Amino acid sequence: MSRSSVLVVFCVLLSCGAARYDFFAFVTRWTGTACLSTRANEPPPLHDVPKNVAAFSIHGAWPTNYDGTWPSFCNNSYPFKWNEIQDLKSLLDVQWPSMTGPNPDFYKHEWEKHGTCSLDVLPNEHSYFSASAKTNSNTGFAACLSRAGIKPSQTQPVSLTTLSNTLSNCVGKKVAVGCLSVRGQLHFNQVTLCLDRNFKAINCPSTTMSTAAKSCSSSSQALVVPIPQSCYNSAEGTIPISA
Ligand SMILES: *[C@@H]1O[C@H](CO)[C@@H](O)[C@H](O)[C@H]1NC(C)=O
Repeated sequence: MSRSSVLVVFCVLLSCGAARYDFFAFVTRWTGTACLSTRANEPPPLHDVPKNVAAFSIHGAWPTNYDGTWPSFCNNSYPFKWNEIQDLKSLLDVQWPSMTGPNPDFYKHEWEKHGTCSLDVLPNEHSYFSASAKTNSNTGFAACLSRAGIKPSQTQPVSLTTLSNTLSNCVGKKVAVGCLSVRGQLHFNQVTLCLDRNFKAINCPSTTMSTAAKSCSSSSQALVVPIPQSCYNSAEGTIPISA
């Protein structure tokens, strides 16, 4: 065997340079809860979320394996550069706001940890962020909730089965609903849409479903809260919500 064919065999086995992953876990947060949860602990320096922020905003598009593992920080020769995606700013402000600090810091983390692992499919920062933002704005989870008569409320919890069925029917595939306990009350927190390498929806695998189910404990319902006013104004971030 020639030296180069040895290298090829070696690289096929170890997938040199390219990360191994089966699908994208496209995690979107229920913005109402994302705004709350950061304030439950201590007030972080919040980014001012725009008034027209998406009801479901992106946390990240994460290359993931069916067994539940995922690659991370796959290419340190491609550090985040804000100027590569600056033209997407107004779209990202609405679809992918940070709740804990300046947006570019959040994007840098998502890019370097996750985006660099899917360069085989989304070969640069621009394609990664624009495909994600477009996917989120086209998904229509919020419209599906309102068509199903599910209205945000501070007090009336929603059945998690109803929520899960409504969101799954919305995309025609099984999605994973996640929860977060905020000051002792279970809140609907996020929905994971699973995407193949062409960014087409697929049924989420059992590993994704069971991780999400665990976050909802064994509860049958959770609060789907409206976006608090404080989300829109970082100045209010200095007022901690008492535990
Ligand atoms: C890593 O990033 C560099 C710089 O953009 C690029 O030239 C290289 O092809 C990337 N490597 C892989 C395996 O994608």
